[in-house]
Amino acid sequence: MAEADVRTVFAKQGDWCRRLDAPLVGRVCDTLARVLDDSTATGRAVLGWPGDGFADALPMRLVGGLNALARRGDLPALAACYPPNPSPTDAALAAALAAGLHDDRLLDWIASAPQTNEVARSGVLMPGLLVIAQMTGLPVALFELGASAGLNLRLDDYGYVLGGQRFGRADAPLTLAPKWDGAPPPAAPLKVVARRGVDLNPLDLRDPATREKLMAFVWPEQVERVHRLESAIAAFVADPVALDRADAADWVESVIATSDGVATVVFHSIAYQYFPTATQARIAAHMANAGAAATAAAPLAWLRFELDDASAEAPPTLRLTLWPGGEYLLARTHPHGAVVHWLGAGSPA
Ligand SMILES: C[S@@+](CC[C@H](N)C(=O)[O-])C[C@H]1O[C@@H](n2cnc3c(N)ncnc32)[C@H](O)[C@@H]1O
Repeated sequence: MAEADVRTVFAKQGDWCRRLDAPLVGRVCDTLARVLDDSTATGRAVLGWPGDGFADALPMRLVGGLNALARRGDLPALAACYPPNPSPTDAALAAALAAGLHDDRLLDWIASAPQTNEVARSGVLMPGLLVIAQMTGLPVALFELGASAGLNLRLDDYGYVLGGQRFGRADAPLTLAPKWDGAPPPAAPLKVVARRGVDLNPLDLRDPATREKLMAFVWPEQVERVHRLESAIAAFVADPVALDRADAADWVESVIATSDGVATVVFHSIAYQYFPTATQARIAAHMANAGAAATAAAPLAWLRFELDDASAEAPPTLRLTLWPGGEYLLARTHPHGAVVHWLGAGSPA
């Protein structure tokens, strides 16, 4: 990319951050667009980026690396720009970022794509699971595709306030309460009898460096998200779920089959768009085949919290296909799960 285009990518990312309620990180991106220069190894690597900087999430790689160094106490001037400290002046932020760019450890951070695991998405997936529990009347076996660290595979361990009503564990380590619009989801009994996940690169949260990496990609001004992730990680590490390392289609084809007395639930959140087209097609074909053989005693559910069209700007949706049953558009939502416009199973897909 030309240098000017890289700067434009940082400014565009700044706009996205503002739309996702992170105005300070938006300012960080805008400021980086200005202060990056060829006086540091990181500046040269970023400004001479060989690929598509936006598609490669280049700004998020750099922002995550800077945040990691600030979190470990190595960039005190930048840490002073982030909560709980007051919002910095433009000059203080520019000086802190320009100084931070001299740390060559950032080269490692820009070498690989950010990987996140947003636990607030459980606040969108859980009501979908309650619909499945209500419609099938059966315990559920959970299978997550693109599970990352697996935090959303533990969704029944969290507490919820959904549409003004409480769900989930009363003594939960964290409670998710997305901004809700619509009737509450069904208060169906939910029993999870099995859970298993897959990712091309599963994150092992028992490793402290992996935990810290995941934390660094949470925008530091979103203090609630930071605390939520810390609590979810602590609970998960005490009782981890094993994840398989594989392509989602290979895994679905070898693992997903219906079973008597259990609702088999395949789910994913903000992952499908990252799967190659061939992987997507193979997953859809396997689900349709397995679904054709499903019965009321051995049903199959496919719950998807995804963008309907990754190239458009419409918000993500929560969709359910149930065999036997039908297709439902359950909710329109927010990429991080902050807002749910609940439509419920009364809405045709
Ligand atoms: C944006 S993350 C979402 C993670 C998690 N579902 C969440 O909501 O926080 C997308 C995940 O999909 C995984 N992924 C990408 N391509 C994949 C594939 N072909 N098979 C399995 N996982 C894949 C990535 O490694 C990453 O962990």
